[in-house]
Amino acid sequence: MQKVVTRGWGKINLALNVGQVREDGYHEVEMIMQQVSLYDEVTLTMRADNEVRSSSNLGFLVTDERNIAVKAARLMQECYGVGGVDIRLEKHIPVSAGMAGGSADAAAVLDGMSRLFGLDLCQARLMKLGARLGSDIPFCLMGGTGLAQGRGEIVTPLPSLPRTHVVLVKPNFSISTPWSYSHYQADKNNPPADIEAMKRCLSRGEVEGVAKGMRNQLEKTALSVRPVIGRIRQDMMSLGAAGARMTGSGPTVFGLFSASSGGSEEEAHEAAKAAAGELMKKYPRYEVILCETRDAQKAV
Ligand code: C5P
Repeated sequence: MQKVVTRGWGKINLALNVGQVREDGYHEVEMIMQQVSLYDEVTLTMRADNEVRSSSNLGFLVTDERNIAVKAARLMQECYGVGGVDIRLEKHIPVSAGMAGGSADAAAVLDGMSRLFGLDLCQARLMKLGARLGSDIPFCLMGGTGLAQGRGEIVTPLPSLPRTHVVLVKPNFSISTPWSYSHYQADKNNPPADIEAMKRCLSRGEVEGVAKGMRNQLEKTALSVRPVIGRIRQDMMSLGAAGARMTGSGPTVFGLFSASSGGSEEEAHEAAKAAAGELMKKYPRYEVILCETRDAQKAV
């Protein structure tokens, strides 16, 4: 096998609770993560030498050694002495969006190189390697719905959220993750999500309950510099979303549209499509994307 074509999937945060700063400078977090059906296609081709070269369909994307996908390939070389690869990234997940696009690519490289070079590493091993490169990579390797703890790298699977339509709005600016965490201040008016309640809703398949309980404690910091995030959230709710939040450190806002409020699956899909159409009109310079939640059992 000379080539592997694989996918890295994006995520949204159904919950993001920020805790204490740790000795290593990271924050303790508790997050409920949900993979979505939006993916980057990652093609890995074996090289005759030990070089790692990367390219992408996006002209502005840094594809040298600073790209986390290249770092993932270098880590595989360091740990397993494997040869070089060409990495082609066809990006569909918005960049610097709070959707773990870079982490998804790195996860795909770790898993893809394990297969390309016949290492066949188990998921737990891949997750350990991934955690060395970024906090979200273990979740990207696990997929589906999961609880992330520690600095985000300790992941536990949760019951899948029933199929839910997701509308994403990615503004044309970015918010740096280190900036967002370093400006976070605990505040009684910015309560954490009730993780236990959300877990109960997930085990009963109650999308409405999950949607109502969604919180992101990094949202307030983002709103203080980018109030449009709050306006998009309000718009999503007025357009019929069961719940809407910012994902990760932002700036992307997502809305959940589900069939569980008495309507049919078809109606939920139509509502999501109509909402996406309205949001495109209102925010013509922002990316508006319609996708759905994805469970871990689905094949690549
Ligand atoms: O792990 P990752 O590279 O994704 O984190 C990017 C930055 O976000 C870290 O360098 C840190 O500043 C901040 N961060 C944090 N606490 C976390 C995760 C990230 O402070 N749990």
